[in-house]
Amino acid sequence: MSKNFDVVVIGGGPGGYIAAIRAAQLGFNTACIDEWKNEKGGPAPGGTCTNVGCIPSKALLQSSEHYEHASHGFAEHGIEVKGLGLNLDKMLGRKNTVVKQNNDGILYLFKKNKVAFFHGRGSFVKGDANGYEIKVAGAAEETVTAKHVIVATGSNARALPGVPFDEQLILSNTGALAITEVPKKLGVIGAGVIGLEMGSVWRRLGAEVTVLEALPAFLGAVDEQIAKEAQKLLTKQGLNVSLGVKIGEIKAGKKGVTVEYTDSKGDAQKGEFDKLIVSIGRTPNTIGLNAEGVGLKLDERGFIAVDGDCKTNLPNVWAVGDVVRGPMLAHKAEEEGVAVAERIAGQHGHVNFNTIPWVIYTSPEIAWVGKTEQQLKAEGVQYKAGTFPFLANGRARALGDTSGMVKFLADAKTDEILGVHIVGPMASELIAEAVVAMEFRASSEDIARICHAHPSLSEATKEAALAVDKRALNF
Ligand code: FAD
Ligand code: NAI
Repeated sequence: MSKNFDVVVIGGGPGGYIAAIRAAQLGFNTACIDEWKNEKGGPAPGGTCTNVGCIPSKALLQSSEHYEHASHGFAEHGIEVKGLGLNLDKMLGRKNTVVKQNNDGILYLFKKNKVAFFHGRGSFVKGDANGYEIKVAGAAEETVTAKHVIVATGSNARALPGVPFDEQLILSNTGALAITEVPKKLGVIGAGVIGLEMGSVWRRLGAEVTVLEALPAFLGAVDEQIAKEAQKLLTKQGLNVSLGVKIGEIKAGKKGVTVEYTDSKGDAQKGEFDKLIVSIGRTPNTIGLNAEGVGLKLDERGFIAVDGDCKTNLPNVWAVGDVVRGPMLAHKAEEEGVAVAERIAGQHGHVNFNTIPWVIYTSPEIAWVGKTEQQLKAEGVQYKAGTFPFLANGRARALGDTSGMVKFLADAKTDEILGVHIVGPMASELIAEAVVAMEFRASSEDIARICHAHPSLSEATKEAALAVDKRALNF
C-alpha cells in the first residue's frame, strides 16, 4: 500500500532537504527521498554539498590552512614550531566526522519537523495534476503518492570525453577529497572553483600542483581587477596555473597519469602526475528519475526545464537546485527550495538572482555579488568604482593578512550599488554586508555613512564605499 503525502521531495541535498523542511513548516504532510549512502550503506542526506562538496572541502581547506600557518605563517608572530608533522589519516578522519555531523543534523531536522524520510532512489511511476506516484527503490521497495513533487536531484562531475573517473588516478571531487597520501605531483584540469580550492588544499599539504585551464583568462567570470590580483597571489603561493591550454591525450598508467596538451603558444607539452583531478564543471543529474516516462521536459543541456518560478512542464511538479538552470551553488538551491514550498502554499516565494553571492574559498578568499566591471562596460552602464586595499586596514595588519582589496561599483547617477568584489581575508563573511545592501538597493553612500566596528576587516568595505566618492579616509 502506498503512503500518501501533500509534498514529496526527490533528493535530499541543500535544495531538497530545505524545501522539505519549509514545506513541513507550512503545514504540509511532507516526505523526502534521498539515495546517498554512507560507507556502511546507511542514509547520508545532504547531497553533494554535505558529502563530497561544500562541507568536506571547507573542512580540508581549514585543516590545510592551519598546517600552512604552522609551517610558514606562525614564525612572524614569534611562534616557533618544532617537529611539525602531518597526520593525513587524522585530517581525513576529521573531515569525515564533520560530514557525518551534518548528515545526522539533517536526519534530526527531519524528525523535528516531521518530514518522513525514505532512503532510496525515487522514480516517477505515473501521475497528473491530481497527484503522482513515486517508487522508492532502497533496502525495501515502497511507493509514495503526493499532489506536489519537488525534484532536487542535483548534479554530477563532468568527465573529459573518453577519460572516466576511476577515483584512484583520475579524480572527480569525490576522489580529490579522499587522497590518502599527499601526491608529489598533482595535475588539475580546469582552473574553476573546484580546481583552485582542491589545488590549494593539496599544495598546502606539500604537493606540486599544476592547473591546466582551457580559457585564456584566469577566472573569466570574476571582476578582471580582482581576478588579476587573485592570480598574482595564488601564483606567488606556488600554484602553477597554465591558461589557454588544449588538452590532448590522457593516459593513466600503473603509477601515474600523463597529460599531453598544447600550451597557449601552441607548443606541445607533456605533464606527468601522480594523480589528476578533473574539475571542468558539472552536469545535471536525472539518472533513474524516469523523467521521460512521465513526460518531464529536459532542456537541450539535460537540465530539467523550468520557468522563473521553478515550475516544470508537468502540473504540480517543481524542480530546484543544480538540476535546473542558474549557478550551481548550495545557497541558490536552498533559496529555490524555500521559494517553491512557499509557492505551493500560495505564498509569493522569491529568489533574487542579482544578489546571489559567490565565494571561492582559496586563501585569500574571493567573493562577489552583482555585476563585474567588464559586464557594466559591455552593457554600456555608466558607473563609478572605489577600491580599498587590506594593506591599509588595521585589523588586516594585526592578523598578518593584508593581501587583496574591496571594490565597489556604483551607478554613476544614482549611486546604487551594482556590484561588490572582494579578494582578501574572510571575504566570505564580508560579502554578506554587500548582499544586504544590494537587496535593499542601497547606495555606496549608505555604506559609507554606516558606523563599522574598529578595528575590523569590514572597515575596508566602508572605505571602498567612501572611495567611490574619492574620499577614503585611510588610503
Ligand atoms: P545535490 O547536493 O547534488 O543533492 C542531490 C541529492 O539527490 C543527492 O543526495 C543525490 O544522491 C540525490 N538523488 C539524486 N537522484 C535521486 C533519486 N532519483 N532519488 C533519490 N535521491 C536522488 N556550493 C556552495 O554554495 N558553496 C561551496 O562552498 C561549494 N563547494 C563545493 C565543493 C565541491 C567540491 C563541489 C563538487 C560542489 C560545491 N558546491 C558549493 C556546489 C554545491 O555542492 C551544489 O550547488 C549543491 O549541492 C546543489 O544542491 P542540490 O540540492 O541541487 O543537489
Ligand atoms: P567551474 O565551472 O567552476 O570551472 C571549470 C573550469 O574548467 C572552467 O574554468 C573551464 O574553462 C575549465 N574547462 C572546461 N573544460 C576544459 C577542458 N577541456 N580543458 C581545460 N579546462 C577546461 O567548474 P568546477 O570547478 O568543476 O565546479 C563545478 C561547480 O561547483 C562550480 O561552477 C560551482 O558552481 C560549484 N562549486 C562551488 C564552490 C563554491 O561555491 N565555493 C566550490 C566548488 C564548486
